Amino acid sequence: MSDISSLGYVRIRVTDMDAWRRFAFETIGFAEGHGPEAGALYLRMDERIGRLVLLPGEVDRVDAVGWEVRDHLALRRVQSAVEAAGIATKPLSQEDVDARRVEAGLFFEAPGGSPLEVFHGPALDHSPVATPYGNRFVTGKLGAGHVVVPVADLDAAYRFYTETMEFLPRGSLRLATPPELGPVRLRFLGVNARHHSLAILPSSNLKAPALVHIMVECEALDEVGRTLDRAINGGCHISSTLGRHTNDKMVSFYLRTPGGWDLEVGCDGMLVDETSYTAEEITADSYWGHRWDFS
Ligand SMILES: [Fe+2]
Repeated sequence: MSDISSLGYVRIRVTDMDAWRRFAFETIGFAEGHGPEAGALYLRMDERIGRLVLLPGEVDRVDAVGWEVRDHLALRRVQSAVEAAGIATKPLSQEDVDARRVEAGLFFEAPGGSPLEVFHGPALDHSPVATPYGNRFVTGKLGAGHVVVPVADLDAAYRFYTETMEFLPRGSLRLATPPELGPVRLRFLGVNARHHSLAILPSSNLKAPALVHIMVECEALDEVGRTLDRAINGGCHISSTLGRHTNDKMVSFYLRTPGGWDLEVGCDGMLVDETSYTAEEITADSYWGHRWDFS
């Protein structure tokens, strides 16, 4: 099993903080967290100060995908493995860790340019998680949700995540491509019982936002349905209608964030039993629904 225990946080640069404030609190229903960074918006789902941290920026772009480890020993092991793979790491400075409210961490770029942080020791906010519409998010040992990132070289990224970071392969979806290209797959990867905490999508466009979507899970279908109502009523672009995925069995819909990437809001995600699971290929992404609108 990987030393990575879960998706801890995602830090994202955003250009339109006012639009994000409306989106996060009026449409989706995150609780507002409080953190030390001036001008930042903390989207709270649980006792962490913010699972999604929005930072003012010149472009809409992912700043860091933060993977959590158990303790300083695990952090050291991950650092050694990443450096042994020929990737330079940089420890987070005292200022950096204070800003993130974690004990320690390091930064590096995964093959393909994805900015990653690995950290341990998050400080907790014990005040009630007062989400405005009563959403209860599924986090805990499953982490914040999942993130899908574009990668230029899928095989190199897959080797890095599975062999260096020791993520577990959790299946793939073969993409429709001309036969001369050979098989091209969207690959799903897990670090705990959540079916996937990461998916890597082959893409030639790694520029901003360098993020395909982030998924957050609610406890109940009604919370997802009410979020969908608010999104439609608020004029949001619904990137995909409600549907049930074939791999993680999640019922979800996708909506376009003010950053140009999608947020998937779902429920009913399956838990993987590693004693019997084998990585499979799905041949459709959904049992029903998930009609995509790419406009
Ligand atoms: Fe997803």
